[in-house]
Amino acid sequence: KMMFLYKSALREIETQMNIVKDEFKVMYNYDLIDHIETRIKEPKSIIKKMEKKKYEKTYMNLIENINDVAGIRIVCNLKDDIFFVKDLVKQIPGIQIIKEKDYITNPKKSGYSSYHIILEVPVKLTSKTVFVKCEMQIMTLAMNFWANFEHKLKYKTDKNINKKASKELVSCAKMITRFDDKMARNGNIG
Ligand code: GTP
Ligand code: MG
Repeated sequence: KMMFLYKSALREIETQMNIVKDEFKVMYNYDLIDHIETRIKEPKSIIKKMEKKKYEKTYMNLIENINDVAGIRIVCNLKDDIFFVKDLVKQIPGIQIIKEKDYITNPKKSGYSSYHIILEVPVKLTSKTVFVKCEMQIMTLAMNFWANFEHKLKYKTDKNINKKASKELVSCAKMITRFDDKMARNGNIG
């Protein structure tokens, strides 16, 4: 039943964001958003996370403390578009902003860079409206490429990658930041 709510919230926010994407394309012939990805966290990943964070495995803890069961990623072309999109998201009526983290201005130690917003999306059931948490990540195509690659290496293989590999990844992330900064200088390109 809970997964139904998370899935419904994702559909809702994904539709809203697709409208934004299409609106900018149709009205301004501008690709503000390249593409949108969504995913629901698998039960075994939820369990793993609750164990890691030492939460008692209750539904209450899941609802209150696990923010990324429903995840949506908005992938933009340019860095400036990220900030534009996050301001738009904050203006969508009915969507509540719970938390924001700007890993664009302050990338994580790993090199990870993205703008995170924890949202509450209203899901209209027949008898009531429930607010469901979603994690939105807004990043550039280049950051998306880095994050997917690093995620595959780190999270999925379950191996601790060595220091040298970590350093290389941080160095690649810095190159990507430079790349995005160069691409983003308004007006110089295009
Ligand atoms: P969790 O990391 O999900 O426990 O939450 P948190 O409260 O630490 O939030 P944070 O905003 O740091 O991370 C949330 C999500 O961002 C993660 O679930 C990942 O999807 C993504 N993320 C954070 N750090 C990294 C990273 O170093 N590499 C990659 N590939 N993704 C990251
Ligand atoms: Mg996560």
